[in-house]
Amino acid sequence: MRLFFLTHSFNSLSQRLYCELATRGHEISIEFDIADRVTEEAVALFKPDLIVAPFLKRAIPASVWKRYRCLIVHPGMVGDRGPSALDWTIQNGVREWGVTVLQAEEEMDAGPVWAAATFPMRAAKKSSIYRNEVTEAAVQAVIAAVDRIGRGEIGAERVAGQAHAVIKQADRAIDWSVESSAGAIARLNAADGFPGVADELFGQPCHLFDAWPEAVLKGRPGSLLGRRETAICRATADGAVWIGHIRRSGGIKLPTTQAFPEAAKLPELPLNGYWKAADATWQDIAYEEAAGVGFLSFEFYNGAMSTGQCRRLTEAFRWASARPTRVIVLRGGSDFWSNGIHLNSIEAADSPADESWANINAIDDLAQAILCCTGQLTVAAVGGNAGAGGCFLARAADFVWVRDGAVLNPHYKNMGNLFGSEFWTYLLPPRVGEDGARAIMRHRLPMTAAEAVGLGFYDACLPGPGFHVDVARRAGELALVADFGERLAAKLTRRQADEAARPLAAYRAAELKEMRRNFYGFDPSYHVARYHFVSRSAHSWTPRHLARHRDLDWKVPE
Ligand code: COA
Repeated sequence: MRLFFLTHSFNSLSQRLYCELATRGHEISIEFDIADRVTEEAVALFKPDLIVAPFLKRAIPASVWKRYRCLIVHPGMVGDRGPSALDWTIQNGVREWGVTVLQAEEEMDAGPVWAAATFPMRAAKKSSIYRNEVTEAAVQAVIAAVDRIGRGEIGAERVAGQAHAVIKQADRAIDWSVESSAGAIARLNAADGFPGVADELFGQPCHLFDAWPEAVLKGRPGSLLGRRETAICRATADGAVWIGHIRRSGGIKLPTTQAFPEAAKLPELPLNGYWKAADATWQDIAYEEAAGVGFLSFEFYNGAMSTGQCRRLTEAFRWASARPTRVIVLRGGSDFWSNGIHLNSIEAADSPADESWANINAIDDLAQAILCCTGQLTVAAVGGNAGAGGCFLARAADFVWVRDGAVLNPHYKNMGNLFGSEFWTYLLPPRVGEDGARAIMRHRLPMTAAEAVGLGFYDACLPGPGFHVDVARRAGELALVADFGERLAAKLTRRQADEAARPLAAYRAAELKEMRRNFYGFDPSYHVARYHFVSRSAHSWTPRHLARHRDLDWKVPE
């Protein structure tokens, strides 16, 4: 079928649907929902068999839904209607939720239902539920709906329902003097990603994000108890919670201690076990060990890795590689493995160019530490999505095992034509050939886990459910293989031979020469693209690589 995506942005859910439907042989073109006229023009050019709206913030114009069947992906159960569906669900502690695919009509979310899927709710941030449960359910329901329509079915059931109101900041407000930790976390989770909970810190208005539980610390309700790395700890009525990120009025979302220099005066609350995984407290880098395997997790918000985080992770990796283990698994975070350098922290720096330079060098140091690890075999277990430098950082490990369903964006060009680093010029060609490497770098579209493995870029695609259990089992087996010594020796020999042919330092210098031009050169594209990305600027046009109907040679097939 010829499918037309009308979407507010090409977000992770739209990307996943795009990949799944394209893999099934559908022809897809995309237009951002910018103005009714633009949508009408795009639809007239593409003449779709069906319109799919994965992520919209307003209604589809009647001029479009009256002429073409439009499927809306609603993040709610059958019968649920209206905005803030997930926000209410999380804040009210609902146990089961779902996704409904319905046909657009006059009344919002009230059209005939073509398919639906449900899932048990998890105590997690809204952004995490959206990227995991909602996305999986949406894939299931959209494929079912498209298949039904493809088979020529005509009827879809109309279901009675009730619309809920838009959730307001007044509904989200936390009264720190009486709210429990669980209640505060539910409210913060329900607002995570966007828009956050409006509050005050250090006497300044701000929005709070990225809440973590704290099991031990207590204090006067509402008071700030201390800080750890990028987060601060705030007392509730029965304990405390950590706040990892905030957005000050008129500003961008930032790690809390970066947004508020005043936080430096709070007492430091270090972890006792150093890198060792602790229970119920804020910890972005955590290490566990079992059966000769070390597991290093890095739960960096949104997968963004700042200079400081890269340096600490490099230190943790070096520490882990001095342990008596045979395999190190780099687990990343639960939603993202890595999205490369931290564009928000860079934007907020005194000199974004200098901070970009420091950040890319810090992530390259980490990649180099992984590449030069001599005591263990290393595995990148890409369970969450990965983008840009994060995709290539994973490739620095000896093996990359990726979760089926993870969305990968292994390219830099969308960020103002960045050249990219993380040793991609060394890592990519032996896996996919020179032409393959060029194709990946030019390809600005998302890639599925299976595609990445099919290209030889990654090594294995493992089923979504139970991914980390599967990874642990496979890593345990790897640590026990009879020829472990030979395998490790072969890895070192290969690295030495590669070093003799062309030192890592030479690859790095050549990549960084290009990056220096991106950061300090005449062409400001990277700085402009980064500004729009971190400010979440509204789109004013759809990039050509997405809007295929705008290709000059586009013709509607007969
Ligand atoms: N630095 C800072 N924040 C980042 C980030 C980065 N490198 N990558 C993603 N984020 C943030 C986004 O700003 C967004 O923040 P929010 O909490 O305000 O929603 C959140 O992560 C999710 O990103 P979003 O773009 O909505 O997710 P997605 O799954 O739809 O798209 C990517 C994933 C990777 C395609 C997209 O986030 C991206 O292009 N990131 C930039 C990658 C990059 O260029 N890195 C620098 C070069 S190494």
